[in-house]
Amino acid sequence: MKLMVIGGGGREHAIIKSLKKNPEVETIYALPGNGGIGQDAICVPIGAKDIPAMVAFAQEKEIDFAVVAPDDPLVLGAVDALEAVGVPCFGPNRDAAILEGSKVFSKGLMQKYHIPTAKYQVFSAAEEAIAYLKAEDTYPAVIKADGLALGKGVIIAENEQEAIAGVHRIMTEKAFGDSGNQVVIEEFLTGPEVSVLSFTDGKTIIPMVSSMDHKRALDGDQGLNTGGMGTIAPNPFYTEAVAKECMETIFLPTMQAMVQEGRPFKGCLYFGLMLTQKGPRVIEYNCRFGDPETQVVLPLLKSDLLTIMQAVHDERLAEVPVEFSDGAACCVVVASGGYPQKYQSGYPISFGAVDEMENITVFHAGTKLGESGEILTSGGRVLGVTATGGHWQEAKEKAYEAVKQISFTDMFYRKDIGARCK
Ligand code: AMP
Ligand code: GLY
Repeated sequence: MKLMVIGGGGREHAIIKSLKKNPEVETIYALPGNGGIGQDAICVPIGAKDIPAMVAFAQEKEIDFAVVAPDDPLVLGAVDALEAVGVPCFGPNRDAAILEGSKVFSKGLMQKYHIPTAKYQVFSAAEEAIAYLKAEDTYPAVIKADGLALGKGVIIAENEQEAIAGVHRIMTEKAFGDSGNQVVIEEFLTGPEVSVLSFTDGKTIIPMVSSMDHKRALDGDQGLNTGGMGTIAPNPFYTEAVAKECMETIFLPTMQAMVQEGRPFKGCLYFGLMLTQKGPRVIEYNCRFGDPETQVVLPLLKSDLLTIMQAVHDERLAEVPVEFSDGAACCVVVASGGYPQKYQSGYPISFGAVDEMENITVFHAGTKLGESGEILTSGGRVLGVTATGGHWQEAKEKAYEAVKQISFTDMFYRKDIGARCK
């Protein structure tokens, strides 16, 4: 089989490494891929948002199956465009990807179908949003741009001044373009956060092993928000009782609601949850695999990923095995100094003896090939170093041992990934 994976980060590297385990896979093309992905797939310089080019490429190469991994192409309708020319895909169509593409839509869906989430209001004008914030006068206040915003569209304002500045940034300055035409202002919730990725074909929903992201740049959850500095799975707060409650009150109702709305969701549905005193609440939906959650979830998947993805496409997910190992996995993201703000790139990476270490996988997020084939840094998040083990402690220790093998100029990483897992 000839496969095509859209995207070029650590998540896509993890997906490609899992797909490769299926003996029927001959070739995988990554659009655009990256320096490290080039060791596992053929990288093609087509951007993940260039839908006409990816459709033409899929036709030219007679691609048998495509995986659209990032949010942008999904929300823009890449799956619709590929399937229209007969390329079967894993991923939701545009109508279903709106679950991530519009927070106004997803909040409305949760309200209509009584799916537990933070209380909220929607505003289409900055003055109205500000008047509401002043009247409520409750902080922290949570302000969210309606549309996609590279993961930066959520502002947690500690006081009125920050809240007003946030509304203006989103709605007046249009920091995220049209994504800021509307804002959602919602209740601030507290509790441990859990990421649950699931496979669903619109009829069956199968949660994957739970995980915990570490979004802040620095140890102790200090510093700026990032795309994610590391993950650990399973999430220690996600007990069997919580999982059961989430299935009944969140997962199944969401899948069924999307069917009711005429937008059946097929693909990976990601639930960003907060376990509050009053029970689990949905913080966000994503219409795709998480990054770096995928880098701990897929290494624990025992069943064949391609078989599952094809079953999702064919709406026969209930017929295939989806099993995870009982062990744990820890992914430490190695980043460029300065990330998530300004950083330098183009530095050579030394990998030491990491390739010889057992149960370690180095996923490449921001790397490129140099002129003589050496691997250079090319992004903020550079690598995701994942270790698997029998338990959290083993996975954490091994991941950090492996990270010590790696070096490049200005490299940094958090030292406390999984510290809450004992
Ligand atoms: P999101 O992009 O929706 O995942 O939001 C980014 C982060 O903001 C989440 O991971 C939470 O830590 C935080 N957050 C979002 N919504 C809320 C909320 N209603 N209450 C408290 N924190 C929130
Ligand atoms: N790690 C969070 C996300 O993928 O949105």
